[in-house]
Amino acid sequence: MDRSDPPDRPRIALVGAGRVAQALVIALARAGWPVAAVGSRHPEHLSAATYPQPCTLQQAVDQADLVLLTVADDAIAPVAAALRWRAGQAVVHCSGATEVAALDPAARAGAQTGGFHPLQIFSDPVLAAHRLAGSTAAVEAGPALMPTLQALAAALQMRATVLPPGMRVRYHVAAGYAASFLLPVLQEAVALWAEFGVDEAEALQALLPLSRGTLDAAAARGLAGALSGPIARGDVGVVARHLAELTALGPQRVGFYRGLAASQPALAQRAGRLDEDLRKRLEYLLQARDC
Ligand SMILES: NC(=O)c1ccc[n+]([C@@H]2O[C@H](COP(=O)([O-])OP(=O)(O)OC[C@H]3O[C@@H](n4cnc5c(N)ncnc54)[C@H](OP(=O)(O)O)[C@@H]3O)[C@@H](O)[C@H]2O)c1
Repeated sequence: MDRSDPPDRPRIALVGAGRVAQALVIALARAGWPVAAVGSRHPEHLSAATYPQPCTLQQAVDQADLVLLTVADDAIAPVAAALRWRAGQAVVHCSGATEVAALDPAARAGAQTGGFHPLQIFSDPVLAAHRLAGSTAAVEAGPALMPTLQALAAALQMRATVLPPGMRVRYHVAAGYAASFLLPVLQEAVALWAEFGVDEAEALQALLPLSRGTLDAAAARGLAGALSGPIARGDVGVVARHLAELTALGPQRVGFYRGLAASQPALAQRAGRLDEDLRKRLEYLLQARDC
């Protein structure tokens, strides 16, 4: 697709003026699919420099061929029910967890409905706008709308992954594991470093290159190929010392470790690092409660 002049470029409006909206305004302008209007409950509070043509939610809907709902998840169904839609319009929400059925009021009015979930974090919308290129968008739609959503992803230089109906919650849990769920692991590491007097900033400076190295290895060699550490090496004695030390620090500490370690022996066996016998010994050690 020629990004400077997409063949079927629809007139786009956003409904909801939060962080995802702000990032999409920037990224879509750069992609040559500029946003025509951004609807908000409080358009008078929006800067036109950040949000093109701030207007009410209904005014945004009325002037668009493709409406992207960028409101909070709990607002998707009530907002879809409160607005007037027209036949032929496309109405798509940007949530990962909310089913497309939340847009049924628009579908009943003759609109095509779908989901376009950008798989990225948006805590900093300007940074997120840059990170969209190379990221994935999970798209869900019927056959009439799907090509438009795939073209939208391509315009943003995103990969499109088609999500089958009914899978959004599972998909969203997985996305959480790859994003915010990494943080409690680092939080636990930082807490252990605090016990020998290192503060969070210094601990993260030391630990994040290790995390990045692991993620780079996973990208290059897959999960099994990236696994390192005593479980991957079959160093039973080191794992036993870890468990004994954490048990002394308390049940939460050792429970956290056991939970994260439980699937590693099987992964290490898949990588060809452990034989069946050693995998079973490690699994037994990790499950045992008397360490
Ligand atoms: N943040 C992420 O990392 C991320 C990633 C991918 C997808 N998403 C999805 O993108 C969507 C928007 O997320 P966000 O991070 O941009 O949220 P956000 O920054 O909190 O913005 C949400 C917007 O929704 C509006 N809103 C809330 N309730 C409303 C209602 N009843 N009627 C009208 N507008 C209402 C808010 O308007 P007011 O300003 O008027 O309150 C706000 O502008 C969500 O579906 C989210 O799941 C988020």
